[in-house]
Amino acid sequence: MRPNYPFNCWYVAATTDEVGRDLLARRLLGIPVVLYRRSSGDVVAMEDRCVHRAYPLSEGRLDGDRLVCGYHGFVYDPDGRCVDVPSQERVPQGACVRTYAVHEQPPFVWIWLGEPGAAALRQPPRTPWFDDPQWAGTGETLNVEANYLLLHEHYLDLTNVFVMHPEAVPPGIEALPPLDEVEVSEMSVAYARALPAARLADWEAEATGLPRDTECARREEGTFVSPALHVQRYTIDAGDRPAFELLRVQGFTPESPTTTHVFLQIVRNYATDRAVVADHLRSMFHEMAARDAAVLETVQRRLGDEVEPRRDINVKADRAAVRARRVAQGMVEEEAGRIATRPALI
Ligand code: FES
Ligand SMILES: [Fe+2]
Repeated sequence: MRPNYPFNCWYVAATTDEVGRDLLARRLLGIPVVLYRRSSGDVVAMEDRCVHRAYPLSEGRLDGDRLVCGYHGFVYDPDGRCVDVPSQERVPQGACVRTYAVHEQPPFVWIWLGEPGAAALRQPPRTPWFDDPQWAGTGETLNVEANYLLLHEHYLDLTNVFVMHPEAVPPGIEALPPLDEVEVSEMSVAYARALPAARLADWEAEATGLPRDTECARREEGTFVSPALHVQRYTIDAGDRPAFELLRVQGFTPESPTTTHVFLQIVRNYATDRAVVADHLRSMFHEMAARDAAVLETVQRRLGDEVEPRRDINVKADRAAVRARRVAQGMVEEEAGRIATRPALI
């Protein structure tokens, strides 16, 4: 069966600090990839497969900017060309490993695994908070054994919070108000909702430093920026001061049809110099992500047991998630159509 993720899309391959002078092996969209930095600092991404006998190049070593296979020692330039075969004088024609376009925009290293010529036509989504000194962030990389769309859906419908994370809900709020308009563009889906004024949940008081009984309005916005990125914005408005904004930015990169790399970043525009706030948010969101992962992995296992695909029953709260699924499906079908209509090569 064809995977349900598009290839012509920028995905997060790694965070900036994960890629260095050690070889990083990572399966992305089902493709084994090896990542490293040249001595100039530029990131190289290559298929993790030697052209000789398919040994993973990530098992080899770097020699300057060149990669040396750990089996028979073929040497590759950062552009993927094999430049040396130790056992003979000549390098066989066509001895070349595929390389992938990358774009580093800290804290993410983006990769293009689709049609090579199409990479330049699109840019990775902008993530301006990360290089704005008004914002401070903390993050981690996780692996979840669930299809990437299950993750998108989970974060596009936060009604699960009442069941899964009740301690995070402000006191007195019993239900999430319906979504305001859901906006759909070619690749994105965005929704927003306003919450009625309520006192602060414990975590909100701890993070903002406001007294617990402060009545605050809140706004919650979720965006499926692309199949690769989800951004949730949570704004606490205490009235007479600038609003407290917190973003949960998540790169979702399919590892395989049933597993996903999650690049989780939490950024905030308040208490930016307070390490204790960063620690508190990091552990709280880590704990939530672990609980989310446990549920999604259970759903994925259950789906895997089913012989025939079955139809889900949707409710109003699924509005954004259903649209996001449709956007992703449209991109996948468009790619499949292009391949199907391509004239046969003779
Ligand atoms: S498998 Fe890489 S050199 Fe033989
Ligand atoms: Fe959750």
